[in-house]
Amino acid sequence: MPEIKRVLFDQDVIAARVEALAQRISTDYAGKELVLICILKAAAIFAADLMRRLSVSAKIEFIQAASYGMSAASSREVVIVQDLHKDIENRHILLVDTIIDTGHTLHALLGLLAERKPASMNIVVLLDKKSRRSTEVPVAYCGFEVPDEFVVGYGMDYRDQYRTLPYIAIVEPGE
Ligand code: IMP
Ligand code: MG
Repeated sequence: MPEIKRVLFDQDVIAARVEALAQRISTDYAGKELVLICILKAAAIFAADLMRRLSVSAKIEFIQAASYGMSAASSREVVIVQDLHKDIENRHILLVDTIIDTGHTLHALLGLLAERKPASMNIVVLLDKKSRRSTEVPVAYCGFEVPDEFVVGYGMDYRDQYRTLPYIAIVEPGE
């Protein structure tokens, strides 16, 4: 297993940022009914914290995507492996993910969900590895910009490990 190199954001820092994001989202969606779409598995913890800080009425749905292919991210195929159980037509959708990297996954998901004709669609991410972006993705709400390092914790994994850490840390990749 790779070792934890250093803590990037501790619990208090994460909580304060999630609170600030929730306030902005609550202001922007005042008077609307919001549907949060939590992108499994990584966004489970972020979505759980975010939704409890919202002051607008919100529903929660879950979706899981997988990307196939060994080549560069941009040529990998993104498929929905666990779909929503509700129709999103005419709904105000907020896609929730913990981290955006190349942007390939969110770009593909936005395209697939747009076909279902929601009233609006936005994205909230806690972390943005902006320097790695290869596809343009409209991110409406972002918690922190992060350097190009592999991070774990707060839902994010390295080979399905470390998701349960309450803080976000940088790991040394490799065996
Ligand atoms: P993208 O399609 O390149 O934007 O990758 C998005 C997905 O890759 C995220 O939703 C994460 O699941 C995963 N990912 C990207 N960077 C990291 C990281 O540093 N740690 C853990 N997972 C990551
Ligand atoms: Mg992962």
